[in-house]
Amino acid sequence: MDSNGDGVGDLPGLTSKLDVLRDGTPSSLGIEGLWLSPVYPSPNRDFGYDISDYSSIDPVYGTMEDFDRLMAGARARGIHLIMDLVVNHSSTEHPWFRQARTSRENPFHDYYLWSDGTNGKPPNNWGSTFGGSAWEWNEQTHEFYLHSFLKEQADLNWRNHRLREEIHDIMRFWMNRGVDGFRLDVANYYVKDAQLRDNAHEVVITQPMPGNPSKTLYIPMSREVYDHTVDQPETHDALREMRGVIDEKPGHMMVGEIAQRTQGQVLSYYGDGDSELNLVFNFFFFVRHFRAKDFRDIIQRTLDLLPEGAWPAWVLSNHDVVRAVSRYHCSPPMTKSMIGLLLTLKGTPFLYNGEELGLANTPLLRKLLQDPVGKRYWPLPVGRDGERTPMPWDDTANAGFTTGVPWLPVSAPAMSYSTESADPTSVLSFTRRLSWFRSHHSALNAGDMSIVAGPSDTCLCFTRTSSAEHMTITINLSDQTVAIPRGSFTSDQIPLFSTEEQPSMDSLAPWEVRIAAAPA
Ligand code: GLC
Repeated sequence: MDSNGDGVGDLPGLTSKLDVLRDGTPSSLGIEGLWLSPVYPSPNRDFGYDISDYSSIDPVYGTMEDFDRLMAGARARGIHLIMDLVVNHSSTEHPWFRQARTSRENPFHDYYLWSDGTNGKPPNNWGSTFGGSAWEWNEQTHEFYLHSFLKEQADLNWRNHRLREEIHDIMRFWMNRGVDGFRLDVANYYVKDAQLRDNAHEVVITQPMPGNPSKTLYIPMSREVYDHTVDQPETHDALREMRGVIDEKPGHMMVGEIAQRTQGQVLSYYGDGDSELNLVFNFFFFVRHFRAKDFRDIIQRTLDLLPEGAWPAWVLSNHDVVRAVSRYHCSPPMTKSMIGLLLTLKGTPFLYNGEELGLANTPLLRKLLQDPVGKRYWPLPVGRDGERTPMPWDDTANAGFTTGVPWLPVSAPAMSYSTESADPTSVLSFTRRLSWFRSHHSALNAGDMSIVAGPSDTCLCFTRTSSAEHMTITINLSDQTVAIPRGSFTSDQIPLFSTEEQPSMDSLAPWEVRIAAAPA
């Protein structure tokens, strides 16, 4: 929400909408935490993920006083707030890098990763995630610096202990201002191979991705394996140290983005006996079809591999991927089944702003694109602007987001918070209702989980159990009515919650989400 008409959402705008997020009644979304994407000063080459000052607020979003007001407003409503901590790299405009690049003797030089290369060429075959070599020449010192992302995002040297102390102090700075924790950007990238050995490549046949229009395309391509750039053992050491800082104050947490890896590798970031990240995003739904079989596999594997005492975190959409509604071509009932799943699984559900409305990606003209990745590959569906367009609040001009010119066109102006609020059958009304139900049932918000056989293969069926309650959740992930056989596991259960106004005891409606009290 933009408060000052400059077309960009800002902290006072967000503060003015806190009641929408949680006002203590069933007519708000009822969230318990807010993850704020980067609001620090930034040249904004990568949507703020290129930070030039870790301890201030970019004037475009407001002032530190605005931040304090947001914090106070959140706290008053029982909303925790976490900041995005982007410390695999800084902006090349950060004073550390401006100093570091001036001479090899500069005290900040060792805060970054450098190499002489050979014969004017980079030292190895490491590629930037955004394309091209991960090495960029620095004329002043006659060497290359590493950038795993854009060349304006220089990788920090996590083997430098002074640098680590600086990061810990940044964490303490925000914790002292009241924040409850951090979302750690690409947390498995921190430490790189000390010998700078080449990464392996593997030939993969690209699978048609859900949401990719080129559905029949199977292209063999060479893919970098990242074996020397991510998941180095010392990264786990660094995260354990950061966990020490988090634990200096009770009730703080870190959730990490662990990209590019297998489920087992991703879950290893919880550490032994909960010693590293408190939560690790599970991104595996992104690359699967929205079918019971695919989702059941991912969920079961997560439950099997999750370390003792660890708590999952589920994601269907974020600022980097095509919104789930577009990815899976969802109708509103299908969207409800997706949100139904997210809010009933064992774990912390992360909703991406607008997901609660059932927002789709916004198609954009090339000249409007802001994301460097989108500009590079347009018209391929790889740019990230389509999922970042502003929230539609109401049916006034620019959907009530701004009185000025929005930085990207507003999403689906025909759909908005106010129209969906007024419609009891909307995705928003459903999300609020389920969120309220979830918060009042320990089986759902804290209970254990087991997958059980449902009435058909197209249904996902699982139990959630706390010391006080035992529930069965059945979600029909198909557009067909599913019969519930008499005498079957799901047949004698009393529905407590459903997407249907009058759930039938004999069948599940297409895309129905049903929560029932299971016999003890
Ligand atoms: C993470 C962020 C993404 C960003 C990248 C580099 O993947 O989610 O938006 O481009 O890191 O910081």
